[in-house]
This record gives sequence, C-alpha cells and structure tokens, in this order.
Amino acid sequence: MPIRIDERLTAIANLIHGGAVADIGCDHGKLGYYLVSTDRADKVIATDISAPSLRKASELAFDNGVTEIMETRLGDGLSPIKSEEVDTVVIAGLGGDVIAEILKSARLDAKKFKHFVLSPNTHPEKVRRELKLMKHTIVTDLLTECAGKYYTIISTELKVDYKDDLDDDEILYGKFFRTDKVFLKRSLEEIATMKNILETHQSAELEGKIARLEEVLKKVEK
Ligand SMILES: C[S@@+](CC[C@H](N)C(=O)[O-])C[C@H]1O[C@@H](n2cnc3c(N)ncnc32)[C@H](O)[C@@H]1O
Repeated sequence: MPIRIDERLTAIANLIHGGAVADIGCDHGKLGYYLVSTDRADKVIATDISAPSLRKASELAFDNGVTEIMETRLGDGLSPIKSEEVDTVVIAGLGGDVIAEILKSARLDAKKFKHFVLSPNTHPEKVRRELKLMKHTIVTDLLTECAGKYYTIISTELKVDYKDDLDDDEILYGKFFRTDKVFLKRSLEEIATMKNILETHQSAELEGKIARLEEVLKKVEK
C-alpha cells in the first residue's frame, strides 16, 4: 500500500539513492517503509531505543508484507548496526546533541559509514562539528519548511581525500547559508519576531541576537 509522507521526510527520502539504509530512531517507521515501497532503498534496517516505538515500525512492515526487506532492531543509536553494514544512515527528528553523541559513539567504536542523512531538530552546529571529526564531507546542507517549521537536513559522504574546512559561520548556519534562500527567509522572520517582542519588552539578549543575525545576513546573497 502506498504511504504519504510530509515535506520533511520527502526531502530526506530524496537524498537517498539506493542500497541498504539504516533509519535510527525510526519511531512510526514511515520513512523506511516509504523507501522500500518506492524502490529508493533495497533494504532498510529500522531501529529505535524504545520498544513501543519500534513496534509501530514492525507492524507497518508486517501489515504491508515487507518484513524481508524492512527489518527492525531495538537499541541505542548506531549500536544495533555493524560498521559498513549499510550504505546510508538516516537519523532524523532527534536533537542535534543526541545525534552528535550517536555519531561520536560510532566514531569511538571505529565504525565507518559511507553516507549520513541527518536532520537535527536543534543544535545542527553540534552535528556539523562531529561530522568534521568523522571526516565526512557535507554534500547537502539545507533548510526545508514543513507545516510552518524549519528543519535542517544534512547529507554527507565519507571521502578518502577529506577537504571540508567549514568556518565558524558555516558550522553555525550551514555550509551553504550564503546562497540559501530559505535561510535568508527564516532569518528575516526571526529578526522581525524579535523586533516585535522588543517593542513591548526590553532585552539586551534579544538586541544582541538581532545584531549578530544582521551581521551574518550581510554575508548572504540577496
Ligand atoms: C521524534 S521521533 C522521530 C521519528 C522519525 N525519525 C522522524 O523523523 O519522523 C524520535 C524517535 O527517536 C527515538 N530515539 C531517541 N533517542 C534515541 C537513541 N539514542 N537511539 C535510537 N532511537 C532514539 C525515540 O524513541 C523516537 O521514537
């Protein structure tokens, strides 16, 4: 049975180009099922730290007769996945601090994966810092808008000749923030919201945030 997924999960799915995929923190399992049912992945291993969450993914796979190509495994982060067992690891919908910790544990265990597709809800800078340590080149780094919210989506490739040398702005705002129209739109909206608040409440912190963001926007192509 076909499944509908929202713009965020669609943007993530569009960055996956076949092979075996691990979906870490799969919850409902919709992404994994979408990938195997649309031939975007040959095989999916959907994992979650929570048994009740994983059960939803297992039931989705069972009800649609895809258990041979959509496996489920219980566990923390990348611990249920062996090094190089999959071509792409997806971790979406978790905080950036949790995603960065998951990546760090895999790095300390000397696990290697060719591609990551990561969508941190918060702190994307922590994820980018960890990717730098893992020598993963950032291929895509975009913001997507879904139901009035903005989501960061990063895809990477492990390259022998790692050359990514992100500066502080790129770590904080994204590798391609200078040409990203959605980043410009979100920043202008954030500035307008903060200025609205300042009309009724004084805040040196907000003034500082506005000044920093306006400084960053001078580097963005209009
Ligand atoms: C908000 S849901 C995101 C579901 C899906 N990935 C998405 O983007 O729609 C977060 C899921 O991550 C799981 N999770 C949280 N920490 C985890 C960890 N360390 N390892 C594996 N799964 C984790 C939670 O149990 C939950 O099911």
